[in-house]
Amino acid sequence: MYVLGIESTCDETAASVVENGRNILSQVVTSQIDLHNVYGGVVPELACRRHMEVILPVIDEALRSAKLSLADIDLIAVAHGPGLIGPLFIGLQTAKGLALALDKPLVGVNHVEAHLYAPLMCTEKELEFPALGVILSGGHTSLVEMQGIGSYKLLSQTVDDAVGEAFDKVAKLLGLPYPGGPHVEALAKAGNPGRFALKAGYCKENPLNFSFSGLKTAVMYTIKKSDKDTVSHPSFRHDLCAAFQQAAFNDIMQKAEKAVRLLGVKSILFGGGVVQNQTLRKLFAEKFNDLELFWPSKELSLDNASMIAGLGYHVYQKRGPSDLTTLEAETRMSFSLNS
Ligand code: KG4
Ligand code: ZN
Repeated sequence: MYVLGIESTCDETAASVVENGRNILSQVVTSQIDLHNVYGGVVPELACRRHMEVILPVIDEALRSAKLSLADIDLIAVAHGPGLIGPLFIGLQTAKGLALALDKPLVGVNHVEAHLYAPLMCTEKELEFPALGVILSGGHTSLVEMQGIGSYKLLSQTVDDAVGEAFDKVAKLLGLPYPGGPHVEALAKAGNPGRFALKAGYCKENPLNFSFSGLKTAVMYTIKKSDKDTVSHPSFRHDLCAAFQQAAFNDIMQKAEKAVRLLGVKSILFGGGVVQNQTLRKLFAEKFNDLELFWPSKELSLDNASMIAGLGYHVYQKRGPSDLTTLEAETRMSFSLNS
């Protein structure tokens, strides 16, 4: 079965053709980093316009490099949330238009659930359930209980900034380019995390929830109260990045450990740009050496449409096509446990 995946939830316009949920025949991703860079974050209206300009050429390119035509496609899968409303509309309306014109089935997919499918496209290893999903990106920080492919329950999420967003903001405070995560990681490598006492937030109502906005503010005040010469010294920047990264990752590790114990999981799956961080991978590998860890490749950890087509294949097998008249763009979205 050839599935055309479409992704436009935030600032990437992407299309992929995937065979039987696994074999990636083509993957096209156009990033808008250049467009939003000067603003230090995504401007929804600009994102929307760029999606409109490039979505059809991106789909054409995905078909061309898969050496297929629209007539060969058996199913269209689209990320219909969570994300920014305008960008979501562009992908969803394009997918609906194609499904109607070609008389092909369409299936709507949860973008965050798809991030947890990505690592499964990179390995032959068997996934045992229950599993814990850890999503760490520029837009999401979530722990998800996974009972099977297509069966997910949200355990916790961030109450303010996503962890990738916090990396980006800390990078901005230090004058580093966007996206800042890789730059902060690089500086942290040569730093002493013990120089600054930093901590992520505690969330009373759900102790598994995340809060990174206070941590980011603490970094800001550390910079503000230091004199210019100190701030511009390389050791200050290295040490501050190391302390910030350690505080963020210690918090994530502690919460993941609680969730692992709570659910009795056998495996952990990872998704989102932040899971490219090698320090994070090492921490998880050391702490959970008795569990199977599933990491996505770089191309599949960032936003892409292969994970949408891949999960879409399974969702379609499980639940059949979505109803075109009721499938909507959803900026916030529930998870599909037991459905
Ligand atoms: O998944 P993604 O594309 O985010 C969303 O679009 O939501 O990932 C981008 C995020 C950015 O915040 C970026 O700074 C972060 O992932 N990131 C990293 C690293 N590489 C990317 N954060 C920490 N360490 C890295 N090596
Ligand atoms: Zn994403």
